[in-house]
Amino acid sequence: MSTQILWFATRGAGIVSMLLFTAVVVLGVITTMRWQSDRWPRFLTVELHRTISLLSVVFLVVHILTAILDPFTNLGLAAALVPFASSYRPLWVGLGVLSVYLGVAVLVTSLLRERVGLRLWRAVHWLAYASWPLALVHSIGSGSDATATWMLAVDALCVVPVAIAVAWRLIYARGSNRSVLTSVAEPGRGA
Ligand code: HEM
Repeated sequence: MSTQILWFATRGAGIVSMLLFTAVVVLGVITTMRWQSDRWPRFLTVELHRTISLLSVVFLVVHILTAILDPFTNLGLAAALVPFASSYRPLWVGLGVLSVYLGVAVLVTSLLRERVGLRLWRAVHWLAYASWPLALVHSIGSGSDATATWMLAVDALCVVPVAIAVAWRLIYARGSNRSVLTSVAEPGRGA
């Protein structure tokens, strides 16, 4: 029974992490694009982007810890730390580990933004665009629910908003990275 609980917790926390991570990416793009309206000021997007990213870390920690502890997957600590070292679905779990490393780099440089400087922060922040698809492919490849209709709906709920946001970003923001990302890093500027 306790094994079942761990398995449900791994899957549940993984799905919530994926949805929150999706929201973080979309809100990041909206922030970068400086979109706002009378009802939705820009600071709200910036704050949500930050808060949801921290919340997603909480669910991700639960996801990883329960995956390590679940005796069925028999993952062990090394598999969660070393990419592709897992005996359980090594490729797919390995992509999840890589996604976490990229995400951690983005998170840490964001928390230490004042210290690392804008140039490095900006360069590392681009890794978020690689971390998200790695997490998605990991969830589709290693998840027990990957073929369930409701899980396909969850996947669509992740893919469609990110695809729209990235397309919007690519079409309308070409050539304006510097000023836009500067204003994200220093919210007082250019708002
Ligand atoms: C150290 C990194 C990670 C490890 C060790 C890990 C481990 C696992 C394992 C073992 C499974 C299979 C669970 C099952 O039997 O169904 C799984 C599935 C999943 N993981 Fe991860 N994961 C990691 C990172 C991530 C990240 C970064 C995300 C998303 C932000 C994520 C989201 C998911 C999702 C959505 C599933 C599918 C759950 C389901 O099908 O119900 N994982 N993960």
